[in-house]
Amino acid sequence: MANVCVITGGGSGMGLETARHIPKDVILVLTGRTVSKLEHAKEILEAEGHRVYTTACDVSVRRDVHELCLFAAGLGTIKTVIHAAGLSPTMGDAEKIIMVNAVGTKNVNMEFFKYMNDGGVIVDIASSSAYAAPDILAIRQIFDEAEYQEEKFVKHMLGEATLPPGEENAPGFAYTLSKKFVVWYAQKCAHEYAGKGIRVVSVSPGLIETDMGSREVEAWDYAKEMIENTCEHRMGTAAEMGFTIAMIADERNGYLRGIDVLIDGGASTGKQFKKK
Ligand SMILES: NC(=O)c1ccc[n+]([C@@H]2O[C@H](COP(=O)([O-])OP(=O)(O)OC[C@H]3O[C@@H](n4cnc5c(N)ncnc54)[C@H](OP(=O)(O)O)[C@@H]3O)[C@@H](O)[C@H]2O)c1
Repeated sequence: MANVCVITGGGSGMGLETARHIPKDVILVLTGRTVSKLEHAKEILEAEGHRVYTTACDVSVRRDVHELCLFAAGLGTIKTVIHAAGLSPTMGDAEKIIMVNAVGTKNVNMEFFKYMNDGGVIVDIASSSAYAAPDILAIRQIFDEAEYQEEKFVKHMLGEATLPPGEENAPGFAYTLSKKFVVWYAQKCAHEYAGKGIRVVSVSPGLIETDMGSREVEAWDYAKEMIENTCEHRMGTAAEMGFTIAMIADERNGYLRGIDVLIDGGASTGKQFKKK
């Protein structure tokens, strides 16, 4: 049976660029909500010699993710899941962002766990914003609700994101919280799934030049400051991230698990070395 790599958010940006570096004997399954984007990505990848299937799926809908698993399992052995689907603060209200980024990650990991076996790897794409969220017990208690008390989880996440006086920044805070959840949840899954031989790791990109990243730079002053704090005073490219994510997914990285890989061009360390 052929090996299968599923890429959520595979129709664009980092998901598509990651697909380019997956070995050509692996069947690619690209998914997202927009069929035209998936078809376009399939054309690009097939021209480069990949075997590609596409299927639409909204990761915030558990049933969709379940059907995605069945589709992928019908093609071969699911070895790799790159979960790159996500929304940024300018792409939805706080609830939508929590549903797609946090609930979506829970859905993807929980469903694929059932269909993956020894040697499998799940790479969840978080964000460097995750590091800006408070690391307090109350929030971790909310995270604990995600798997089996989804309604409560969403309500409590939303409550945190809309706390006064910052309500107008609710989508931004929902994003930060949802990505902190991705980092935390990938670590939890890494420890729980290890018994089945499945490796789980998260990746936190800084500002990356995709449609999403460019929207954020236009919308927020702090994004310009982040770029200034990087070593080369620039955004990362989707191509750079695609290479790194594919490399992290490679099975030879057996000890890279249960941890977040922060890839931000030095933005998080830049302030202390800035020339006065
Ligand atoms: N670019 C940055 O600066 C940056 C920084 C940190 C983290 N990230 C994260 O990196 C990941 C990839 O983002 P990107 O920059 O490559 O942007 P992108 O090109 O917009 O990719 C995001 C993909 O997610 C898909 N998607 C969105 N909502 C979905 C849903 N409910 N179900 C299934 N697919 C969905 C989108 O396709 P459809 O709209 O067709 O569904 C799109 O293909 C995201 O998780 C993002 O939060 C990005």
